[in-house]
Amino acid sequence: MNNSKNLVEMKNIHMCFGKVVALKNVDFKVGENEIVGLIGDNGAGKSTLIKILSGVFPPTSGEMYIRGKKISNRGYSVRKAHEYEIETVYQEKALGEKQSLWRNIFIGRQISNFFGFINVKKEKEETERIMKELIGFRGVGVSADSRVGKLSGGERQGIAIGRAMYFNANLIILDEPTAALSTKEVTKVLNFIRKIKESGRSCIYITHHISDTYSVSDRFVFIDRGEIIGEYRKNEISMEELTEKLLMVSARDSGKGDN
Ligand SMILES: Nc1ncnc2c1ncn2[C@@H]1O[C@H](COP(=O)(O)OP(=O)(O)OP(=O)(O)O)[C@@H](O)[C@H]1O
Ligand SMILES: [Mg+2]
Repeated sequence: MNNSKNLVEMKNIHMCFGKVVALKNVDFKVGENEIVGLIGDNGAGKSTLIKILSGVFPPTSGEMYIRGKKISNRGYSVRKAHEYEIETVYQEKALGEKQSLWRNIFIGRQISNFFGFINVKKEKEETERIMKELIGFRGVGVSADSRVGKLSGGERQGIAIGRAMYFNANLIILDEPTAALSTKEVTKVLNFIRKIKESGRSCIYITHHISDTYSVSDRFVFIDRGEIIGEYRKNEISMEELTEKLLMVSARDSGKGDN
């Protein structure tokens, strides 16, 4: 009954935080090897939607399917989401500043040797491989031993994305990965997203900015005050038209606020 080509499908999702209705009647899906740009203003419900999908909390009501299989809302969790190969990179706490890259990558998922000790050598080698092969890192002077604090904002996102890819995520969710970045750093993150696509994986890319997401996304989903208000494939809409749609939504909102 459900289209098995969809990696995930959320149906009729409602989410209330006390009296605040954060999501209403939301239908949202991501296909195999599809990059979806999830676009909306502050407070639209973007993070709430992907937190439900990532297993942070269950929806108030609604259904979720992963590869066509219905998921129990109550039994779902971040750990379960990982088992289903869904991983989320949150901007704020993606990485620990003072630690080396290899420690960051293997934190909570250590490679142990026969005696149960952490296999540091192997973890460093794998970190180098993630940087070179999975995300095509070109930063000069960055090695497995480098401290995270030394990396630029875009590079940090790259490490977090590479980590998710290494641990077999098939759907990588990025919650505003470019919010605090300069144009040059945004370009880096977009290249990491292209790596996600090239490797056959899927991605949800949350942003306020259409200009960032347009080049890398296959489809765009607009969310406004908890409701999906538009969905477009890239071949159906130009960047200018998409930008205009977003402006219309913002204008409508500010019009309401003013009167
Ligand atoms: N844990 C929570 N408790 C109470 N209300 C919440 C909670 N999380 C989100 N909300 C409310 O739900 C609505 C949607 O918030 P959400 O964080 O999903 O928006 P967003 O689209 O991610 O916004 P932003 O672009 O600012 O990150 C907002 O009104 C917010 O205040
Ligand atoms: Mg958010």
